[in-house]
Amino acid sequence: AGKEPLRIMISGAPASGKGTQCELIVAKYGLTHISAGDLLRAEVAAGTDAGNKAQEYMQEGKLVPNEIVVMMVKNALLQAVDQSGGWLLDGYPRSLSQAEALDALGIRPQLFILLDVPDEILVQRSVGRRYDPVTGKIYHLIYAPPETPEIAARLTQRLDDTEEKVKLRLQTHEANVAAVIGSYKDVIKHVDGNRPKAEVFAEIDKLLLELQEGETEEVGAT
Ligand code: AP5
Repeated sequence: AGKEPLRIMISGAPASGKGTQCELIVAKYGLTHISAGDLLRAEVAAGTDAGNKAQEYMQEGKLVPNEIVVMMVKNALLQAVDQSGGWLLDGYPRSLSQAEALDALGIRPQLFILLDVPDEILVQRSVGRRYDPVTGKIYHLIYAPPETPEIAARLTQRLDDTEEKVKLRLQTHEANVAAVIGSYKDVIKHVDGNRPKAEVFAEIDKLLLELQEGETEEVGAT
């Protein structure tokens, strides 16, 4: 049988490793990665009206209103479907209403990965996180240090990566996660994200290979 383009959602608390795993998934499977947080940060950086409004919510660790997020993600997703059919949706949906908006478009994943990581680890991961503005790669001062002094010198930090802000983001996540999970019960897989990133990826890779080869039972068809 031909390989079907994969339709994957990845979710988990702030700093649970979604972006890190998405880098690895994209490198191997070439899916179109759509990150709601990245799309929002691009709007903020561009200084658009939507970006300015979004920033107020992001700084408080709250969900950005649907009027900004839903259309933005929808456009990116429909473009991915048009181009390759395969997509990797990261950090979306984050509420029941966002899940319903996707259902209305007939968009369902074959697999919903939920990364499980204890709260105290999430805070350490978040405050030590850095980004390379040149390559977009995610680093951590302790767990994933930059390869060269040159890269180290240009790393940037996200404004919402302070201990105080992470705690607010965690509260938002905890208030919404159950409703989102409820929408994807038939395709959800919990993955222990509190292991080295290669180990976490090995498990995800196995799930994706099974899906691609159609070895798993037909999920999501009910
Ligand atoms: P978003 O950008 O999605 O942030 P988040 O959910 O808080 O997730 P993060 O990006 O912080 O973490 P991650 O899970 O990708 O972890 P990473 O791989 O970087 O959203 C930001 C804001 O935008 C939200 O607060 C909200 O305001 C708004 N927003 C977004 N989506 C929205 C939506 N749908 N609706 C409304 N508003 C929305 O890893 C973290 C660190 O840990 C890194 O330093 C990494 O190197 C390290 N690390 C990763 N894996 C491991 C490992 N296995 N072991 C050790 N260290 C690791």
